[in-house]
Amino acid sequence: MMQQFDTQQMNEAVNEAYEKFRGDDGGKNADYIPFLANVPSQLFGISVCLPDGEIVEAGDTDYVFGVESVSKVPTAILAMEQYGPDTVLDQIGADATGLPFNSIMAILLENDHPSTPLVNAGAIAACSMVKPVGDASGKWKAITDFLEKLCGSPLVLQDELYKSESETNFNNRSIAWLLKNYDRIYDDPDMSLDIYTRQCSMGVTARQLSICGGTIANRGVNPVTHERVFDAAITPKIVSMIATVGFYEHTGDWIFSSGIPAKTGVGGGIVGVLPGVMGIAAFSPKLDGSGNSVRAQHAIKYITNKLGLNLFG
Ligand code: DON
Repeated sequence: MMQQFDTQQMNEAVNEAYEKFRGDDGGKNADYIPFLANVPSQLFGISVCLPDGEIVEAGDTDYVFGVESVSKVPTAILAMEQYGPDTVLDQIGADATGLPFNSIMAILLENDHPSTPLVNAGAIAACSMVKPVGDASGKWKAITDFLEKLCGSPLVLQDELYKSESETNFNNRSIAWLLKNYDRIYDDPDMSLDIYTRQCSMGVTARQLSICGGTIANRGVNPVTHERVFDAAITPKIVSMIATVGFYEHTGDWIFSSGIPAKTGVGGGIVGVLPGVMGIAAFSPKLDGSGNSVRAQHAIKYITNKLGLNLFG
């Protein structure tokens, strides 16, 4: 049985993690998206959302940063909500690629489907699936409304980030058209890519991301707003996807050492989900070589290990 903790113990663990790793200077900001290179590197925040809606946090949990690849999780849930998990499995898949998030080789190796909605190829395919198909503004509204319900409060697009990524996303443009070549994109490729780029450029705080994780952990009911956001049966499906590919080629090392399924983004955010127990988010801009925040990884691992929280334990 998973170790039980009270809010006070969680509070201590969160504050210890913050103090322990705030001085850690490892890694560097993402710079392949120019905007991200200029986000202040010392920012660091940790937020935990418990099933009763209580938030335990430390540091810069109000700073708005680019959600980036963490946005793949909400859109995957939305596609499953609209079509059912089996259709998403059939049209996109749920396989770990074992390769970097933007891998073109992964598409060539598994060209019968784009592997999983949690890597770039599958996420662009998920954007193409989101209804209403053929209607860019309708899709955008569906995606942003859903993200806001998961997070429980309004979100704003970071225009500068969106421009910066749109001007430099040549690899993703190749992915979108390669998917078209394999008949694995379900709406206009350029439009689907633009929706994907915009969703990656949404601003979020660590607190909002922890509530998003908390909503997934709470089987689709937002613990803060109490609104049912998605069908409870989707939680095990999305958590299995997060567990198998949330850290891309280093997912095995991550889950082995942290015990918690988590999804990273090059904006420096990580969100972890332990069903029935908590959503946890940490944010700090400096990344390791695979695009995962160094301080955020340390913080989440410290907290799960200290409190004996482990999906497999
Ligand atoms: O498509 C990209 O490259 C970015 N918008 C998102 C990549 C990302 O966050 C990878 N995660 N660690």
